[in-house]
Amino acid sequence: MNHFQKDCEYNKIINHVLTNEEFLKINNCRHHGITRLEHSLRVSYFSYKISKKLKLNYKETAVASLLHDFFTDDQLTKKEHSLSAFTHPKKCLKNANKYFVLSDMQKDIIYSHMFPLIPTRPPKYLESWLVSMVDKVVAAYEFILSYHKLCFLKLENIAAVLMLVLVRF
Ligand SMILES: [Fe+2]
Ligand SMILES: [Fe+2]
Repeated sequence: MNHFQKDCEYNKIINHVLTNEEFLKINNCRHHGITRLEHSLRVSYFSYKISKKLKLNYKETAVASLLHDFFTDDQLTKKEHSLSAFTHPKKCLKNANKYFVLSDMQKDIIYSHMFPLIPTRPPKYLESWLVSMVDKVVAAYEFILSYHKLCFLKLENIAAVLMLVLVRF
């Protein structure tokens, strides 16, 4: 069981998002070697914990950070997909606005989360800065994890081939 699943308060805050069928479609999308839902939950839970410690608006932060990557791959055109690092925040904000009622701060969290990669959209709120930073740390962690898994799989394959060769001789 993940940490967030044991946290009753966190689960109450995000329950309306996690039960939305449209949002749950991101569970079918690959993102940093895992699903987009797993990534979003990780960013959301860490953002929730840190913003609560810092006495920021942790409830709005938990929800908006969960929605920060709310898009499915088929929603992007081929061109948008190749530039998804720059194009997806706008799409995520559009999706989030369509299915949920958001405050200005929550909209900013979603829209500015790719700063400084998108330098024209600096975060306006402390909560937005926080989610943008948490997203980058989590993404780096997930990249390293998936790279290690890939290396391990390659080693496993090499070992399997070697075993087959040895068995044949
Ligand atoms: Fe993103
Ligand atoms: Fe993200």
